[in-house]
Amino acid sequence: MAEHISLGLIVLDQNKCVQYWNDFISRCSDKSMEQALGRPVTDTFPEADTKCLHRLIEQTLGQGRHPNVTRDGSQRAIQVPFNLFNDQETQEQNWLLFPFFGAENTPYFALMLLNGADRVEADKQYEIGSCSLAAREIEQRKLAEKLEQANSQLLQSEKLAGIGQLAAGVAHEINNPIGYVSSNLKALAGYVKDMLLIIDAIDEAKNTAELKQLKQGLEYEYIRSDVESLIAESEDGLGRVIKIITALKDFSHIEEEEFRLADIHHGFDTTLNLVKSELKYKAEVIKEYGQLPQIECIASQLNQIIMNLLVNAAHAIEDFGCITLRTGCENEWAWFEVEDTGKGIAPEALNRIYEPFFTTKPVGKGTGLGLALSFSIVQKHHGRIEVFSEVGNGTRFRVWLPVRQPDALDAS
Ligand SMILES: Nc1ncnc2c1ncn2[C@@H]1O[C@H](COP(=O)(O)OP(=O)(O)O)[C@@H](O)[C@H]1O
Ligand SMILES: [Mg+2]
Repeated sequence: MAEHISLGLIVLDQNKCVQYWNDFISRCSDKSMEQALGRPVTDTFPEADTKCLHRLIEQTLGQGRHPNVTRDGSQRAIQVPFNLFNDQETQEQNWLLFPFFGAENTPYFALMLLNGADRVEADKQYEIGSCSLAAREIEQRKLAEKLEQANSQLLQSEKLAGIGQLAAGVAHEINNPIGYVSSNLKALAGYVKDMLLIIDAIDEAKNTAELKQLKQGLEYEYIRSDVESLIAESEDGLGRVIKIITALKDFSHIEEEEFRLADIHHGFDTTLNLVKSELKYKAEVIKEYGQLPQIECIASQLNQIIMNLLVNAAHAIEDFGCITLRTGCENEWAWFEVEDTGKGIAPEALNRIYEPFFTTKPVGKGTGLGLALSFSIVQKHHGRIEVFSEVGNGTRFRVWLPVRQPDALDAS
């Protein structure tokens, strides 16, 4: 068998003397085995007399290992000056050295000379492959960057859409109190003018009867009672405006990017205040808050999720329904959910709702970004979002968040 394989095989005894080599070696080296028999291999191939060869033999002797060396590597172990193959360029000698036992347990070494050309070719292919892989990786990284950019643009545009929606609601909410405060002010201005007339008249009046007549003419009694209620009403109206403005201010910490400990109930109340006008014609809002610790989060972003969920819930309700906002905590995880009694989500839409731009709403009403944005915020918080929906019965979105963020290392 050894004569017929196209591998070189040299058998050495313990003194590194040649005991046998196969036809392949004879052909390649132009030397006959008979000349070399019984003599140290390094006599026949002086070039092979290297430290490395001896070390390999030591290793094999000591540990029974099968050291494998390639000629192109730094360990130029065994150099045999012959052409393995006609093609010089791809010639490469790979050597494998292994011990074996002959008759009566005599130890021998087999030196096998392998055709390394295939490996060279494979290496070349590998190199080409890894180059194109690297190029693709760069391309992918560029793509990922673009995606990241697009994502942040998306977030930005959803924020704007959200703010637009919010602004409409807020304008509506503020319009009403501002309307009556300003009409009250006009009435008050008239009353004050009349009262000043009466006060001015005190100096010139000849008798109290004349004054009384003036008071009566200007309907002083009515002015008196109305002034109080006008002032009370205006104070109330301005109070409402102040409340909305404060909520807006709270909400608009949207650019905040830092994780902080926060009481998310507070944020939810603020958000509820803001979307109240949008909800009040569609649903009764029920709050079922549980016990929650402070949560490490970007509160403004959680508010944004709640706003999206609330607005979606309101949109899903056709006439008048019920929206329930619940919170709770289990071990190291806090959750909040928004449940509605709306029309539900069709099964075929269910796995698309987090896609950017997926919307079932008419142009102008839906951007299809609310849930996409919510999803990415939840991801950023290392949490998860769940949806339970039944067509005709309603939908419940639940968001789970870790109470403490895993540190950067764990997260990666
Ligand atoms: N509470 C819900 N009830 C029914 N359908 C919902 C609900 N929330 C979301 N959806 C569905 O998911 C789609 C995507 O929602 P979203 O990303 O907020 O975009 P948009 O509200 O602008 O359409 C909606 O168009 C709607 O079909
Ligand atoms: Mg929406």
